[in-house]
Amino acid sequence: MSLPSFPPYPEPIERPELTPSTVMGKVESDPLHYAFMSNYMPWHGHVTALTVAPQYRRLGLAQDLTRALERGCDEQDAWFVDLFVREGNATAVGLYRGMGCVTYTYLSCSSLSSS
Ligand SMILES: CC(C)(COP(=O)(O)OP(=O)(O)OC[C@H]1O[C@@H](n2cnc3c(N)ncnc32)[C@H](O)[C@@H]1OP(=O)(O)O)[C@@H](O)C(=O)NCCC(=O)NCCS
Repeated sequence: MSLPSFPPYPEPIERPELTPSTVMGKVESDPLHYAFMSNYMPWHGHVTALTVAPQYRRLGLAQDLTRALERGCDEQDAWFVDLFVREGNATAVGLYRGMGCVTYTYLSCSSLSSS
C-alpha cells in the first residue's frame, strides 16, 4: 500500500504480532504562513482511530500501538498528541488517562454535528 507523503508520516507501523489491532494517526502542522494567527497549530500528532479485536483486549496492545505513534510524533518534534474520545467510553478514557493524557476540552455532540 502506498501512502501520501503529506502529512509526513509515510511509514505504516507494521507489527505482524499486533495484527488484531489497528492504530491510525498522523503528524501535522498548519502551514508556516499561518504562524501569526492565534489559533496556529504547530507540529502535533493525532490519534485518528484505535481498535483492538475483542479477543485480544487487555493484553497491552492498545498501549503498545499508542506509544509507537507517540514515538513517531517525537521524531517529528511534535508538541503534543491529541485525540477525541467519548466521555462514556470508560475503557478508552481509562487507557488514555493511564498513559498520562489530560482533558483539554469538552465538545458537545450538537457542536460536532453542526460543524
Ligand atoms: C479501548 C481499546 C482500544 C483498549 O484496547 P486494549 O488493547 O484492550 O487496551 P490495553 O490492554 O492496552 O489496556 C490499557 C489500559 O486501558 C484500560 N482498559 C483496557 N480495557 C479495560 C476495561 N475493559 N475496563 C477498564 N479499563 C480498561 C486499563 O487502564 C488498561 O491498563 P491496565 O491493563 O494496566 O489496567 C479496546 O477496548 C477497543 O478496541 N475498544 C473499542 C474501540 C475504542 O473504543 N477505541 C478507542 C476510541 S477513542
